[in-house]
Amino acid sequence: MIAEPVGRRLGVVAMLAAAAGVVLGGAGSGGDGAFAPQVLRIDGERLIANLQRLATFGATPEGGTSRLAYSEEDLAARRFVAELMEAAGLEVSVDLAGNLIGRRVGADPSLPPIMLGSHIDSVPDGGNYDGQVGSIGALEVAQTLADAGVVTRHPLEIVIFQNEEGGKTGSRVLIGEVEAYELDVVTASGLTIGDGTRALGGDPTRLAEARRQPGSIAAFLELHIEQGAVLQRQGIDIGVVEGIVGIKRWNVTVRGFANHAGTTPMEARRDALVAAARFILAVEQVASSMSGRQVATVGRLAVSPGAPNVIPGEVALSLEIRDLEMDKIDAVRAAIGERAETIAANSGVTISFEPFYVSYAAPTDQRLRELIAESAAELGLTSLAMPSGAGHDAQSIAVLAPAGMIFVPSIDGISHSPREHSEPAAIIAGANVLLRTLLRLDAEGLER
Ligand code: HGY
Ligand code: MN
Ligand code: MN
Repeated sequence: MIAEPVGRRLGVVAMLAAAAGVVLGGAGSGGDGAFAPQVLRIDGERLIANLQRLATFGATPEGGTSRLAYSEEDLAARRFVAELMEAAGLEVSVDLAGNLIGRRVGADPSLPPIMLGSHIDSVPDGGNYDGQVGSIGALEVAQTLADAGVVTRHPLEIVIFQNEEGGKTGSRVLIGEVEAYELDVVTASGLTIGDGTRALGGDPTRLAEARRQPGSIAAFLELHIEQGAVLQRQGIDIGVVEGIVGIKRWNVTVRGFANHAGTTPMEARRDALVAAARFILAVEQVASSMSGRQVATVGRLAVSPGAPNVIPGEVALSLEIRDLEMDKIDAVRAAIGERAETIAANSGVTISFEPFYVSYAAPTDQRLRELIAESAAELGLTSLAMPSGAGHDAQSIAVLAPAGMIFVPSIDGISHSPREHSEPAAIIAGANVLLRTLLRLDAEGLER
């Protein structure tokens, strides 16, 4: 099934709701300032319409999104999001890391801000929901508070982190984790991370000044699609994320010997691609055979010289390993390394590993998990505590402050694909849980 363009599907939902005079998520209490958290709801029709608008920036013929970090589509989408921030009465700025930030004053300016946010950049030929649901959902929460004349005790920051898909650059700058060499990495948009950061309005020479200190943020909440099929399979409305996996990535180079494909006997070859094929199978076997939930992936491969009549001399590929435990990632890497040594010896090639990315596993905050689950229950929604197999900006910010994540179901567990889909009602429910959790967190703090 190729998902129909999200615009058509989301648009139909919004039109039907408008025709029925129904605000999908339930109306706020109007601008009289009197509100009770239990009645405040986001405006579902507006949320879906804004998600639909965002999906037009980088829309692909297959009905998905290619909105690569730093691309024209990313810049245009950020301008649209900045307009939404202004409409919600936020003070809009771009920090030195290139993150787009909307700030809202709180009744008690001495309190550190509560931060909500996610990302709007996508993978190549991705979907319309990854990061976008949490970004537009957070903006909808801010707009709902503005409409209801509600002023939270804490200041609020709505943050659109830059280049999440290319390495969580924007959120990792805030914790001082981005290494100088990363700025020279060329991203899928063709720009290096350094030039891309500058294109967004940041300054790659001053990233240290963008760093936030622990305690400078009261808490962080991110709404996101699950990107797996657990919630849908179990018929659960909301995922309460317990922890976010760690990720390590390497550039792997297999070096053999390029030679004539016609005159070189099979037994005399040092075929880099044959060795790479054996390596890729070994990665899959190692990760599948060890007990636990680790995953390992070879997602990128380039063969040189790449001619049909030349035995490949060199293959460059990527290796990524993920697990909730960093020690487990290292154990999987060691086992793959042993297999690589055997393959290299038997194939007459060398296999080298160059690490280029680390993102540390992060547990979420227990009290935030309780607030999310309670908020879901108060809204009549079922919830399930679960880990995240995907990386998120929340795991960066978890270094600075207590972090919580709210998942909504992904249909068939498909993500990073034009067929990525979440139902509008599920997205609206997730945004209402985000709103309610924020209001309870703001009123009660993280103390029990
Ligand atoms: O790759 C990830 O896990 C995330 O979707 N960026
Ligand atoms: Mn994401
Ligand atoms: Mn993603």
